[in-house]
Amino acid sequence: MTNRFAVILAAGQGTRMKSKLYKVLHPVCGKPMVEHVVEQIGKLDMTKMVTIVGHGAELVKAKLEGKTAFALQEEQLGTAHAVMQADEALSNEDGVTLVVCGDTPLIQAETMEALMKHHEAQKAKATILTAYTDQPEGYGRLIRNEEGFVERIVEHKDATEEERKVKEINTGVFCFDNQALFQALKKVSNDNVQGEYYLPDVIEILKNDGEIVSAYQTDNMEETLGVNDRIALAKAEKIMRKRINEFHMRNGVSIIDPENTYIGLDIIIGMDTVIYPGVQLSGKTIIGEECTIGPDTEIKDCTIKDQTVIRQSVAYDSAIGSNVQIGPFAHIRPNSAIADEVKIGNFVEIKKASFGKGSKASHLSYIGDAEVGSNVNIGCGSITVNYDGKNKYLTKIEDGVFVGCNSNLVAPVTIGKNAYVAAGSTITEDVPGDGLSIARARQVNKENYVNKLKHNQ
Ligand code: UD1
Ligand code: CA
Repeated sequence: MTNRFAVILAAGQGTRMKSKLYKVLHPVCGKPMVEHVVEQIGKLDMTKMVTIVGHGAELVKAKLEGKTAFALQEEQLGTAHAVMQADEALSNEDGVTLVVCGDTPLIQAETMEALMKHHEAQKAKATILTAYTDQPEGYGRLIRNEEGFVERIVEHKDATEEERKVKEINTGVFCFDNQALFQALKKVSNDNVQGEYYLPDVIEILKNDGEIVSAYQTDNMEETLGVNDRIALAKAEKIMRKRINEFHMRNGVSIIDPENTYIGLDIIIGMDTVIYPGVQLSGKTIIGEECTIGPDTEIKDCTIKDQTVIRQSVAYDSAIGSNVQIGPFAHIRPNSAIADEVKIGNFVEIKKASFGKGSKASHLSYIGDAEVGSNVNIGCGSITVNYDGKNKYLTKIEDGVFVGCNSNLVAPVTIGKNAYVAAGSTITEDVPGDGLSIARARQVNKENYVNKLKHNQ
């Protein structure tokens, strides 16, 4: 089989983004643009993949480590100059080289595969992936001769009025005979409006050398969107979101309002789960079957088992069992482990706490640095007092404990199995199993007190 190589252009600053973050690192659905590109190319079984880095090189490399090799473009003199930086890695090779811009996050492996197939079938030295659009503004235009054969590409800024009317654009994805590419690159000049070495000029150079150059037109313009500013970034996000949501819907997940549901790329969702509007799922979240999530819920890096309901809540970095009820308005903070059939009700915050099966904290609680057993009932307004201003301490609440309303459990402290804590207690010492602890001032009733006050006036 022919060797296949890929070069990804990711050295630009991205001035039009007006950002401190380098362009190709701007996320689309939670993942940097260039990582989308590298991952799609990764599916194509490449002999070698080289990413050209420059601005923010260290940060870009850190994001892509292990997925691609790198070459440094110290000064950004244009896309042709960028590809030349792969000279050392590739110029002695024979095969086919795919070149893709790191700012086309929606491009898919299948389209690049089709481009390479077309290129090979045409026996071309270069093939451009083109698309038709009613908004060609900013893109390079494909200029064909009278017979329809590819002549050259002209950049928007260099184009005449007539050329700007052309609606077939260069998507920035190319396929080349590797040797022909590196030979032609040497001939590219920077004699143009931007004073840059343009990769698309290779087309005209090869054509003038009598080589076959071809174009492969995709009917999916959406996929080839180049992101140069934040308006295009939002467009890319919208298209990617639709793609992700449709994938889950095809898998049997109900999404009530896909336009308002934000699911990251690495999320797994089980069949018959229903996602309400305003839900944001990110990180490595896994959701089981028949769950109800949302509305207005943010979940990151959580594992959630079947038939759990999470409404209007925030959950981070935690494990949540099946048949759990969370919210409305609960906050599950990192390192929490919530077993099956637990209820975490409104205005309850959990941090680094485990809850055993069937336990409940139904209203207005803070449970942090705690181990809560099974079938525990934490009354409304009860909290763990886990922090003395310097250190955090553990609260243990064993199986079957009943904590009365508005209690303070001052850690470190253990409430023994099946014990009761009376409402309004401030517990500073361990409570023995099966015991009852009342730690509050006794009530004093002063009879007729109000009348006595009035009499004394
Ligand atoms: C480029 C194409 C244009 C095409 C469009 C598709 C050129 C000259 N123009 O224009 O024909 O329609 O993409 O989206 O190629 N880069 C480097 N080093 C450089 C310059 C750029 O690595 O010296 C990288 C950028 O980081 C970016 C990519 O190359 O990822 C494309 O550069 P950009 O400036 O965005 O080119 P466009 O003007 O969009
Ligand atoms: Ca671009």
